[in-house]
Amino acid sequence: MTSPKSEVNIGEKIKHIAFIMDGNGRWAKKRLLPRSQGHVEGLKTFTKIVEHCFNLGIANITVYAFSTENWNRSAEEVGALMGLLEKNIDDNADELIEKGIRLIFLGDKSPLSKTLADKMTDIEKRSAHNKAILNVAVNYGARDEITHAVNELISEGKTQVSAEDITTHLYTKNSPDPDLIVRTAGEKRLSNFLLWQAAYSEFYYSDKLWPDFKPEDVDKAVEDFMSRHRKFGGY
Ligand code: IPE
Ligand code: IPE
Ligand code: MG
Repeated sequence: MTSPKSEVNIGEKIKHIAFIMDGNGRWAKKRLLPRSQGHVEGLKTFTKIVEHCFNLGIANITVYAFSTENWNRSAEEVGALMGLLEKNIDDNADELIEKGIRLIFLGDKSPLSKTLADKMTDIEKRSAHNKAILNVAVNYGARDEITHAVNELISEGKTQVSAEDITTHLYTKNSPDPDLIVRTAGEKRLSNFLLWQAAYSEFYYSDKLWPDFKPEDVDKAVEDFMSRHRKFGGY
């Protein structure tokens, strides 16, 4: 797919886009609704945005759904988020697989309920033949990811590691580094997301709360990205 303004092939320039989907709680608060309702709306946005990005020809999409620090929230909110995740898998996973999408969950599944963890593993297996990748970060933290990678390398018998060794042992090993990271809701921080992989990523911030974020906002982010000059330490 080409961008109408630039006639540039988007999928060539952006091989991987990542989203820090933030602002569900504030969206609900503004409407005097429970935070869980913000997550319900956020899930609808997630579905539309993912579809739009794949339609643009972007081959790898990563979304931050639940961080290792999000356990600090109330049991009620955590329960609502886990319930939504499971329902989304039940309702939409087969369709995503049919559309040619490979689902990968980034993060440590062991603290999740066995039912949810098993469903996640099952989809990962059933979609493994597909080319386009949707990484969903659940119980994901970049520090946990790097620590996990190093421990794996140690258990493989390594006493010295290279940067390449670490990259190939991260949860994101099937995707290239993100070209563009988008964060909504006006916050300008990584919150333990893709610390290793973001070394040369471009950042785009939107003040919109995630449930209000639209496919046109992705287009704005993409257009902004296209105007940037990436130097990777060179010129
Ligand atoms: C993002 O929205 C979703 C998750 C972190 C699970 P928040 O729930 O963080 O929304 P705010 O930041 O409180 O508005
Ligand atoms: C980051 O958002 C995690 C997700 C979007 C899942 P948070 O809302 O948890 O981040 P902080 O606490 O504002 O840094
Ligand atoms: Mg937040």
